[in-house]
Amino acid sequence: MPKLVFVEKNGAEREVDAPLGLSVLEIAHQNDVDIEGACEGSLACSTCHVIVDPAWYGKLAKATEDEEDMLDLAFGLTSTSRLGCQIVMTPALDGLRVRLPASTRNAQG
Ligand code: FES
Repeated sequence: MPKLVFVEKNGAEREVDAPLGLSVLEIAHQNDVDIEGACEGSLACSTCHVIVDPAWYGKLAKATEDEEDMLDLAFGLTSTSRLGCQIVMTPALDGLRVRLPASTRNAQG
């Protein structure tokens, strides 16, 4: 089973099982990791913002324009930010590390 490492806001790391085909957001929810994902992956919020470890960022499929537009609304945007609902686990991403941002904009905006 591939693994995914979440780095929580306080720096604590959690390695969890990451079934292929599930998004980082879905995996977070399965493991009670604190990522909101208010729109359930329909690219209508930015509450699933995660900061990808720079060593991994280049291995991800490129963000679509819609994702980029939503990311622009995320608090604490970094050059390796992505939306967790748009990162889907593949064998190449086994061991992926993502950090939770310090704060997110809530669903009401
Ligand atoms: S859950 Fe809303 S954009 Fe990812």
